[in-house]
Amino acid sequence: MISKTIRLAGEKDLPSIRKVIETSFSAEENKAIMKLVAALSKEASHPPVKSLIAELDGHVIGYVSFSPISHKSASPISGYILSPLGVSANHQKQGIGSSLIKTGIEMLTRDGVDVLLVYGDPAYYGRFGFREKTALSFVPPYPLARPFGWLGMMISEASAPMDPIKFECAGALSKPELW
Ligand SMILES: CC(C)(COP(=O)(O)OP(=O)(O)OC[C@H]1O[C@@H](n2cnc3c(N)ncnc32)[C@H](O)[C@@H]1OP(=O)(O)O)[C@@H](O)C(=O)NCCC(=O)NCCS
Repeated sequence: MISKTIRLAGEKDLPSIRKVIETSFSAEENKAIMKLVAALSKEASHPPVKSLIAELDGHVIGYVSFSPISHKSASPISGYILSPLGVSANHQKQGIGSSLIKTGIEMLTRDGVDVLLVYGDPAYYGRFGFREKTALSFVPPYPLARPFGWLGMMISEASAPMDPIKFECAGALSKPELW
């Protein structure tokens, strides 16, 4: 019987994650994404970075990482950013990406996180409830290269703040070229 599992990634999973990134992202994106994954695995933020991997019969076929945002606003709202997400080329379109996102949302909701943000394709992330309108309340630390794709989803009972919050992200994502 084929066994599919999703679990938290550890530093020892880095070589397997590297293989996933190699086949999921284009050759030109590969290097920057691998650097990001390595930096996220070492990030000592509070609250912590949380990364998930999907395994098929013990082989890693998908990866997603979630890193916390911080801000100085008076609002108590807490948030994470989803980045990056990759599924091995020959395992795409089989629901692996969706399972990683949904498992991540459940995990962060249990942790008491209020908002999940992502900078990606609205046609894909919109399926899970990510919306441009929600993300308008959260101002990223760097100008965005594309005029679309900055998305957010409230995952707790909290409402998006009326006044936009300018936030900082984890060190691994604090690179203007990633935005
Ligand atoms: C995007 C990605 C993670 C999706 O993973 P996946 O396991 O194939 O996703 P799922 O099986 O859950 O969903 C597949 C569906 O999403 C659609 N989809 C995938 N990428 C899409 C995109 N950029 N825009 C719109 N739809 C997209 C597929 O066409 C498919 O549609 P269908 O259900 O109607 O057939 C995977 O294609 C990937 O690794 N891509 C390269 C890396 C990347 O772009 N990562 C995201 C940005 S960080």
